[in-house]
Amino acid sequence: MKKLFGVIGDPISHTMSPMMHNDAFENLKINGYYHAFRISPMDLETAVKGMKAIGVEGFNVTIPHKTSILPFLDRIDQLAQAIGAVNTVVREGNDFVGYNSDGLGFIRSLQDGWKKDFKNEKTLIIGAGGAAKAIFYSLASSGVDKIDICNRTPAKAQALVDYCPFHCETNILSLNEASEQLAEYTLVIQTTSIGMSPNIQEIPISLENLMPHTHAVDIIYNPLETKFLCEAKQKGATTQNGIGMFVHQGAVAFEKWTGMKPDIIRMEHKVLQHLG
Ligand code: ATR
Repeated sequence: MKKLFGVIGDPISHTMSPMMHNDAFENLKINGYYHAFRISPMDLETAVKGMKAIGVEGFNVTIPHKTSILPFLDRIDQLAQAIGAVNTVVREGNDFVGYNSDGLGFIRSLQDGWKKDFKNEKTLIIGAGGAAKAIFYSLASSGVDKIDICNRTPAKAQALVDYCPFHCETNILSLNEASEQLAEYTLVIQTTSIGMSPNIQEIPISLENLMPHTHAVDIIYNPLETKFLCEAKQKGATTQNGIGMFVHQGAVAFEKWTGMKPDIIRMEHKVLQHLG
């Protein structure tokens, strides 16, 4: 019998996950099927119970349910609990267990697209929303012990740091301070929605002081090259867009569900084809 998987969110029509996972099932000859379910916030609890009742093996969770789903799961992994958001649910026995694969997906994409060991890099995260939190906590939990954060609202960055259960030395900066001190960093990670289509002319901070030896990452993948990445390139920096993180967070979920490693290059190719 086919094993059932899926993603829940609202809206959900633009998701690339079904195409990516169904292709990986086919490629690995796994008898599985992944479907996108549009679930409104008021139906979330019923939907989770229904997925369990009909035997769904696992699913992804996206906006707006990543945090509100926590009370409806049987167990939450420690990192997901700390982040306060779940993007992957796995059936373990009769339990639905919540994980967050965004941070690990980001780390793997960095290892794939840049270098294996970045523990000693001078790192700056731009933004303090949900994505920044997943990345900061995952980097901190994997042993990176110094990461600075800049945000439009520094108090939000402070709260993110205060609730982090993993040791990490951090300076909180305003966006202006960060752009002035940019030459100090060898890894700069852009996590805000600034520059995302259709607002492609926007950039969160000036990159005037960015150094050529710096690696600049934007987690946005629409457009593939944001203004942030374009200007970073002009300064001579190496760059990386959000495709890698998207593909790797999906691959981490896939591995948890099936115990098998999907072909990352094939997944990335599929996604790029889809984006045109
Ligand atoms: P996500 O969960 O996708 O990370 P989010 O929680 O809404 O999204 O976080 C958005 C991030 O982008 C925040 O860091 C936000 O800054 P604030 O904390 O000050 O709100 C940042 N952001 C969004 N729009 C911005 C803008 N126009 N200028 C500066 N920062 C912005």
